[in-house]
Amino acid sequence: MLSRRAALVVLGVGGASALVSACSPTSDNPTQPAAGALPSGEPETLTSSDGLLEVTLRAEPGPISTSTGTRYGYSYNGNSPGPTLRIRPGDRLTVTVENDLEEPTNLHTHGLHVSPSGNSDNIFITIDPGQQHQFVYDIPTDHPAGLFWYHPHVHGTVAAQVAAGLLGAIIIDDDRDQPAAAAERLLILTDPPRGDSPAALRADPMDQMMGREGPTGLINGMTQPSLEATTGSLERWRVLNASPSRFYLLALDGHQLHQISSDGGLLDRLHSRDQLLLTPGERAELLITPTGPGTALLRALPYNRGTAGMGMMRRSSSSDDELVLATLDITGDQAPPAPLPERLTEPERFTLPEPTATRTLTLGMGMGGGMMRAGSMMSFTIDGREFEPGRIDIAAELGQVEEWTIRNDTPMDHPFHLHTWPFQVIDDPTTPGWKDTINVPANNEVRIRIPLTDFTGTTVYHCHILDHEDLGMMGTIDVTAADR
Ligand code: C2O
Ligand code: CU
Ligand code: CU
Repeated sequence: MLSRRAALVVLGVGGASALVSACSPTSDNPTQPAAGALPSGEPETLTSSDGLLEVTLRAEPGPISTSTGTRYGYSYNGNSPGPTLRIRPGDRLTVTVENDLEEPTNLHTHGLHVSPSGNSDNIFITIDPGQQHQFVYDIPTDHPAGLFWYHPHVHGTVAAQVAAGLLGAIIIDDDRDQPAAAAERLLILTDPPRGDSPAALRADPMDQMMGREGPTGLINGMTQPSLEATTGSLERWRVLNASPSRFYLLALDGHQLHQISSDGGLLDRLHSRDQLLLTPGERAELLITPTGPGTALLRALPYNRGTAGMGMMRRSSSSDDELVLATLDITGDQAPPAPLPERLTEPERFTLPEPTATRTLTLGMGMGGGMMRAGSMMSFTIDGREFEPGRIDIAAELGQVEEWTIRNDTPMDHPFHLHTWPFQVIDDPTTPGWKDTINVPANNEVRIRIPLTDFTGTTVYHCHILDHEDLGMMGTIDVTAADR
């Protein structure tokens, strides 16, 4: 293993990580990338300095180049995924979004614990075509390190814009963010529609009911990239499911996935698994100990996320088919696997106070409903109601600890997501740590506990199958300071 200091350098606090990830993981010269382009196609990284990162993201339509040609889509500054924004706790991040699309857009910082109001993570702002808006995000000094992401959030168009390519990663770095690995990779999972004209971006009502899925799963916009690794090394993979609807049940041939982080940063200890389910919006960080020489396939195993519709209109999803996402080409003679850390962070990070308020939220699908106008035969609801922007569904008080039972009365899984305030899943040791998105399986329920700390304001919770959110499976929460 590298020394702590060397490891931090290799981790690329200064932004070199995108280069380093393609290097031989044992390279002791982090400024010297391996010859050739990044095989994994990682996006450009923009890194804060002196507490500030100022970024312009121009949302524009047009051809996007991929490893197998071009496709019509939407990009940020010509690329999809957009640039990776690498910042630190206490930083200020400003993002000017320029809208060169022919429809409104905006920006949401998924998973960041920042204000949902004003020019911060306020998803009620919309930017008309030809206009621009500057968002300003002040990252709390005690914000956990981890992998977060950004994408548009204009109700009714979120699935189409994210599928088209408007998304990117946000990494929060922290010196305490152990463990350092010799190579760090970012793997952004998307499944964009394929086609060379705007028609490719349209989804029919049946696809929307099920949640649109593209023909295959890509990593950083690339089809089955090959990743080079060395026997005996230790790799850190940051994985984001940025697909609108596709679920990925990840497995790597012959290797365990040693999970160190979930949505909201480090876990208390390693959770080693053969398979890991990432539903839309979820993130995980994994330690991998490449063992070779040989080739290991990174796969998405078949996963049944349920069905929508009935009779002739019944539709199931292509998450049912197995995919090969990447190949890991491992060189180097046999060597003992790199040692793994036992403890990752202080267990106190996970202490949860007793709840001061409890609620039940019921996710539903019914016939008809207000979305008939959009051609859907079904309504998607929470507590029987479709999203209504002016209405407050949950009025809560700053400082309360809420416990929500989220019931799914439908024959499909729905990944439930809350903005602004991370939560923990209660009574389920298989989903450890702080979360912001959690799958609620078909005809099942999940209990979460949410400390409503630090910020007041109005924001939303919704299904992260983005078509379901667009069809109405979203509600509002308004958090106010207690009267005194
Ligand atoms: Cu990733 Cu409300 O969204
Ligand atoms: Cu979000
Ligand atoms: Cu859903």
